[in-house]
Amino acid sequence: MIEKVGVVGGGLMGSGIAEVNARAGKDVIVVESSTDAVEAARQRLEGSLKRAESRGKIKSVDAVLARIRVVNDLTALADRDLVVEAIVEEERAKTELFRRLDEIVNSPDAILASNTSSIPIMKLAVVTQRPTHVLGVHFFNPVPVLKLVELVPSLMTDPATTERARAFVQDDLGKTAIDCQDRAGFVVNALLIPFILSAIRMLESGFATAEDIDHGLVLGAAHPQGPLALADLIGLDTVKAIADSLYDEFKEPLYTAPPLLNRMVDAGLLGRKTGRGFYTSNGK
Ligand code: NAI
Repeated sequence: MIEKVGVVGGGLMGSGIAEVNARAGKDVIVVESSTDAVEAARQRLEGSLKRAESRGKIKSVDAVLARIRVVNDLTALADRDLVVEAIVEEERAKTELFRRLDEIVNSPDAILASNTSSIPIMKLAVVTQRPTHVLGVHFFNPVPVLKLVELVPSLMTDPATTERARAFVQDDLGKTAIDCQDRAGFVVNALLIPFILSAIRMLESGFATAEDIDHGLVLGAAHPQGPLALADLIGLDTVKAIADSLYDEFKEPLYTAPPLLNRMVDAGLLGRKTGRGFYTSNGK
């Protein structure tokens, strides 16, 4: 049974992962990198839980918060059954973290998972003494809302580890798991990112406006939002980072970031998080 869960990184994804675990009754410790970041993660969690309470999704913010400790000390994770890493998408930071987690987490049965979108799970597994217990558990943003989790075993992951992770995300967290190989983009981003890049190329070439591209996909293909609005939501820096990692892995032209995307990222026009991307935050 997985009852004690650790989450490293309390940003957008880590706070969401902590929230769904606490809402499922798990004992959760979140580790952040500084006291300021601890405070920011607490506020993020509280804000999200208040929204859930106002929508009737949870009975009491306090009851859920009581199951979450946010700390600035990785050694607090020694007794965890599962640790999910959700720190910045940098290979060196993640390998250093996995090396330390391997030393800190006591139980030989404990699972060390990563929420990475693009770093090969194998690179994280091989820095530990327990590669059989390392795998990717890739949640989607916003974590409390989106049902999907991609399970990504490396070539060295014990199938029993994958099955324990599947039972946990499905039976305990109420998500739906799909199986992916340890290749850039897994399933969803390998399909979604080239689609978004094609929409950007269409805009860049002057073939159609952003509004018409998005209306086309919403009204003509029943997508909940168009590809350019979705790119703004994901963050254009993140779209570019995933495109670059797909290109590095496969060297296929369809994964190349178009110049317009590169220039927007250079300019800091990153979408909703900076107020301007293909649209401004007031929707224009
Ligand atoms: P974020 O930047 O919102 O959060 C990262 C957090 O990690 C920050 O709060 C930072 O203070 C903390 N951190 C950095 N180094 C740390 C360390 N050594 N120890 C403890 N905390 C540390 O990033 P976000 O978007 O939450 O992404 C986290 C991971 O999730 C990345 O690997 C990303 O690729 C992946 N991911 C992101 C998705 C998204 O839509 N943003 C979707 C699915 C996966």
